[in-house]
Amino acid sequence: MANISSFLAALTLVFFMAFIGSSSAQLTTNFYSKSCPQLFTTVKSVVQSAINKEARMGASLLRLHFHDCFVNGCDGSNLLDDTSSFKSEKTAQPNFQSARGFDVIDQIKSAVEKVCPGIVSCADILAITARDAVTSLKGPNWEVKLGRRDARTASQSVANSSIPRATASLSTLISSFSNQGLSTNDLVALYGAHTIGQARCTNFRTHIYNESDINGSYARTLQAKCPSKSGQGDNNLAPLDPQTPTSFDNTYFQGLANQKALLHSDQELFNGGSTASLIRTYSSNPSKFKTDFVASIIRMGDIKPLTGSNGEIRKNCRRIN
Ligand code: HEM
Ligand SMILES: *[C@@H]1O[C@H](CO)[C@@H](O)[C@H](O)[C@H]1NC(C)=O
Ligand SMILES: *[C@@H]1O[C@H](CO)[C@@H](O)[C@H](O)[C@H]1NC(C)=O
Ligand SMILES: *[C@@H]1O[C@H](CO)[C@@H](O)[C@H](O)[C@H]1NC(C)=O
Repeated sequence: MANISSFLAALTLVFFMAFIGSSSAQLTTNFYSKSCPQLFTTVKSVVQSAINKEARMGASLLRLHFHDCFVNGCDGSNLLDDTSSFKSEKTAQPNFQSARGFDVIDQIKSAVEKVCPGIVSCADILAITARDAVTSLKGPNWEVKLGRRDARTASQSVANSSIPRATASLSTLISSFSNQGLSTNDLVALYGAHTIGQARCTNFRTHIYNESDINGSYARTLQAKCPSKSGQGDNNLAPLDPQTPTSFDNTYFQGLANQKALLHSDQELFNGGSTASLIRTYSSNPSKFKTDFVASIIRMGDIKPLTGSNGEIRKNCRRIN
């Protein structure tokens, strides 16, 4: 009897440890403090000079971390180029002619490899870079959890299906976040990333010509930059937050509350649905937005990381070792 119960206790322990081993509890803020003490200053200086050259780059870098985490977890899969065995995520619909900043990530990676060769993953570089970009554009600062390893493959089909589109309805947005273990409040807070950056005409054409939930004079201003005919001016850009496109602040939410969203999916968050009250809160309370954004981006960074001996530490973010 005693033997059976100690056997069961041991078995429970084994399952418990296996569970811990597979969860993201292993990511820690001091993961590289001994192995790469120069990591943070090295990343930050490359991010800062890229943003000094072009402020929009901060937005593009933040978006790369999101597009990594939503495709099989935060594992650097979106940085891989095409190979003979898989098609890259770079040409998936949400990324094609849209995702940018890969050259900046290459510069960061080579600067980091110079000071600590073979130590820091590309997935962690994306997470640190996203933080530095937000902080540099007057957004909040936070301690980044680290210890992710890099995927040895990419998935174009998961990138096509998991990253939400500009045409999405509120219920589609909510379910695409819940598929990643993220709540509706995480959706709204993280969506506040659209306080910086730009979108292409092809993604907002229908919203500005054919939808009624948009301020008329704002729509006309946008129509001047984005021809109605598909195929014409598809890549013309407009800011997601027209008031302050390079400041990480809460004016984006004020725009939503005034029917001045650029994308159909943005306006979906303030169209009489369950997210409207949080939009109102953020539009009047910038510090609540920043606190919630930090909590939510840390949760996003916890999505299915590869840890321990899974994956690898890529030498070059564009290809597996
Ligand atoms: C929730 C649903 C979301 C949808 C449907 C969505 C959709 C889009 C679209 C269509 C664009 C414009 C792309 C283009 O025209 O080339 C864009 C840009 C952007 N997105 Fe999102 N997004 C979402 C959530 C997020 C999240 C969670 C983040 C980050 C945490 C984010 C960060 C950005 C940034 C910073 C840009 C501007 C990028 C640049 O200027 O290069 N988005 N998004
Ligand atoms: C992903 O979407 C793009 C653009 O719509 C398409 O060309 C490509 O074939 C899709 N890839 C997969 C694997 O489904
Ligand atoms: C607007 O809707 C009409 C009628 O459905 C359609 O023919 C047209 O292509 C749409 N235009 C845009 C820019 O979406
Ligand atoms: C649309 O925006 C303009 C310019 O900001 C503003 O003057 C106008 O009152 C808005 N229209 C509506 C219907 O809210």
